[in-house]
Amino acid sequence: MDLFEYQARDLFEANSIPVLKAKVATTPAQARDAAQEIGGKVVVKAQVKIGGRGKAGGVKLAEDGDDAYVKAEAILGMDIKGHIVKKVMIAAAAPIESEYYLAILLDRSNRSFLVMASVAGGMDIEEVAHKTPEKLAKVHIDPNEGMGQEKALEIIRKGGFGSDVEKQVADILVTLWKTFQSSDATLIEINPLVKTVDGRVIALDGKVTLDDNATFRHPEFEALIDHEAADPLEALAKERDLNYVKLQGEVGVIGNGAGLVMSTLDVVAYAGEKFGGVKPANFLDIGGGASAQVMADGLSIILGDKDVKSVFVNVFGGITSCDAVANGIIQALEILGDRASKPIVVRLDGNNVIEGRAILNKANHPLIQQVDSMDGAAARAAELAAK
Ligand SMILES: Nc1ncnc2c1ncn2[C@@H]1O[C@H](COP(=O)(O)OP(=O)(O)OP(=O)(O)O)[C@@H](O)[C@H]1O
Ligand SMILES: [Mg+2]
Repeated sequence: MDLFEYQARDLFEANSIPVLKAKVATTPAQARDAAQEIGGKVVVKAQVKIGGRGKAGGVKLAEDGDDAYVKAEAILGMDIKGHIVKKVMIAAAAPIESEYYLAILLDRSNRSFLVMASVAGGMDIEEVAHKTPEKLAKVHIDPNEGMGQEKALEIIRKGGFGSDVEKQVADILVTLWKTFQSSDATLIEINPLVKTVDGRVIALDGKVTLDDNATFRHPEFEALIDHEAADPLEALAKERDLNYVKLQGEVGVIGNGAGLVMSTLDVVAYAGEKFGGVKPANFLDIGGGASAQVMADGLSIILGDKDVKSVFVNVFGGITSCDAVANGIIQALEILGDRASKPIVVRLDGNNVIEGRAILNKANHPLIQQVDSMDGAAARAAELAAK
């Protein structure tokens, strides 16, 4: 889960990483009140989960409360790369002398953590990495060793920080590492971390990604979820513990096992080319021991998608045998009743396939069509969706 900047700022503040006073506003009037409460010059910042807000006009300096009202009015409702601004953060304006870059991230390919630090912050860090790589320190952190003061200082010096700030920035980096670990983050980035004209070092912008797999030990994650932005079907699927991702097509897809479902998406997209470019409508993996209830939950989510015109159930019987799946499908349709209204193409193979197919044949359900091969079933489902 990605956090909004204001949530990242709150996380920093709670962990004693220096930040500026700030408040969130959803209306220009609230922005004015917030600016007056903070006092002096402020910045009005669009709260969207996408980079490059500044360049898009989503970060504006305001002289006072009335000016903050005007700036917030301009920024609220703005479309930044497809993200509509619903909130702004009003933050005290810092007298900036220098802008730095600091980040910790999970480096999956190296099975390690990576710290990046540079005195050349503020701007596009990719550009710094490309044009002046010597200005960007990249150091791996062994999770078993962690990062203490000494290591942090070494990284900061490598990143080109001067002796005037190296101690302060190293302290922040150590704190950032502790925050990264305790919050189960996969990314924490501060860009810019600034030095003010009076020599303080402060985080002015924050990007944080939390590891959703760690939700079970972080009840506080719940309050950070942006329910408004979540796709309603994806939210429902999550509630029911289903691995569902909404896509833009017309053929609903259910399968058991992520690999099988991925290849089903490919096969459906390929078959769909012959039927006017019909595409898969979703990814849905019901996993190994899929009960009738899980099948019913999966089907009801897919049938609740108004873009879906047909459904392709592609199951390879393993631990859960085909007869159990077939019974699950029949029971699921009983549970759903009138809510099931779209043609369902079923392809069963694997463990107990003969019994499974026989159960479906015997049920003779008006919505179910059986096709024995994966390619054939995909073509049938695509054809039905195109009608
Ligand atoms: N509180 C502040 N006081 C003064 N200047 C600020 C403040 N916040 C941001 N700025 C200025 O605005 C610039 C852009 O701000 P910020 O990094 O938050 O936006 P951004 O668009 O998210 O950047 P990116 O998306 O590329 O990371 C900063 O580099 C800094 O110069
Ligand atoms: Mg930034």
